[in-house]
Amino acid sequence: MTNPSLLILAGDGIGPEVMAEVRKIIDWYGTKRGVTFDVSEDLVGGCAYDKHGTPLHDDTMAKAQDVDAVLLGAVGGPKYDSLDFSIKPERGLLRLRKEMDLYANLRPAQCFDALADFSSLKKDVVAGLDIMIVRELTSGVYFGEPRGIFKEGNERVGINTQRYTESEIERVARSAFELARKRGNKLCSMEKANVMESGVLWREVVQRVGDTEYPDVELSHMYADAGAMQLTRWPKQFDVIVTDNLFGDLLSDLAAMLTGSLGMLPSASLGAPMANGRPKALYEPVHGSAPDIAGQGKANPIACILSFAMALRYSFDMGAEADRVEAAVAKVLADGLRTADLMGPEGGAPITTSQMGDAIVAALDTSL
Ligand code: NAD
Ligand code: IPM
Ligand code: MN
Repeated sequence: MTNPSLLILAGDGIGPEVMAEVRKIIDWYGTKRGVTFDVSEDLVGGCAYDKHGTPLHDDTMAKAQDVDAVLLGAVGGPKYDSLDFSIKPERGLLRLRKEMDLYANLRPAQCFDALADFSSLKKDVVAGLDIMIVRELTSGVYFGEPRGIFKEGNERVGINTQRYTESEIERVARSAFELARKRGNKLCSMEKANVMESGVLWREVVQRVGDTEYPDVELSHMYADAGAMQLTRWPKQFDVIVTDNLFGDLLSDLAAMLTGSLGMLPSASLGAPMANGRPKALYEPVHGSAPDIAGQGKANPIACILSFAMALRYSFDMGAEADRVEAAVAKVLADGLRTADLMGPEGGAPITTSQMGDAIVAALDTSL
């Protein structure tokens, strides 16, 4: 049997710092569990632009299409902010999502017990929280045409287009219903059907998929603005949430703070099944390149490590090993270890990115 293959695209800013900690976990699997991944590395984002003049080289795109899973750190940085849209670091990531057709972006927000006190919300609001946001990732206003900045009379106009086809809505709805079935059997769909035609269609199609294929799943609909309010008021009312590309981007950053820090939230971007039956997949933390703390050893590597755990679960059929990594993260947090982003106003002594990675590896050792 061939080894599972992984393409690592660490990217910019804290991307390489958090990815170095994931490498420790991958190496641990090789030495302690006899699970060897064929790991290759390449560039994406600003670092790819610096080398090739493009945020994603065609060869890298081809490699991504060829592996069992891609693991990405983060892209972007102030140095690249004034570049044309077509060559910005973020375009590299958007191209990967689009060309791999990764339409279902799973963003789980789980509050670890040890962090329940740390959230900006009251402890009983977040303790035990376990929700899953399914964000549509390959369409909507991120990709709709026309787009651009155009001249209109003697001023300029910036245009983006929100656009969804029925089949795009159907497929992401199915992914969300399937997940709901494996969890609490509840799905809430969010759009703005009160003001947007694309929202009207979204609601109609999700309802139809529910009625015809998933009548056993409890389905509700909510306007996305009210959804944001409900997510902060009483997030535990939700199980799975399905929403479009832009609302999903916003709501998942909001959900991150329910868990304590943006440095905690992993994600899996999944597409259609490949020949081996596993979905096309890219795993990445929800956070960005965090230029404000890059290069200082302050980044929390947990979001990236938990993204690797999602790869174990969704790409490699190693659910029990994903549980093991998640338990190791829970253990180090329960032991009181904290990176700087997880320190409260009372302060304390934060550990570094690398110390957090080492602690998680040590916790994995004790799990054997
Ligand atoms: P960001 O997520 O990079 O940072 C927001 C805040 O959260 C910062 O204060 C940062 O220090 C903190 N933070 C983020 N991740 C952290 C971690 N692991 N540990 C500790 N603290 C962490 O968002 P931003 O500042 O709005 O964007 C910075 C750049 O990243 C931009 O160029 C943006 O386009 C890009 N970005 C990339 C991705 C991605 O690659 N998937 C996602 C979001 C933003
Ligand atoms: C995310 C990021 C990306 C997005 C950017 C970097 C393109 O914010 O993954 O949440 O907007 O989707
Ligand atoms: Mn985002």
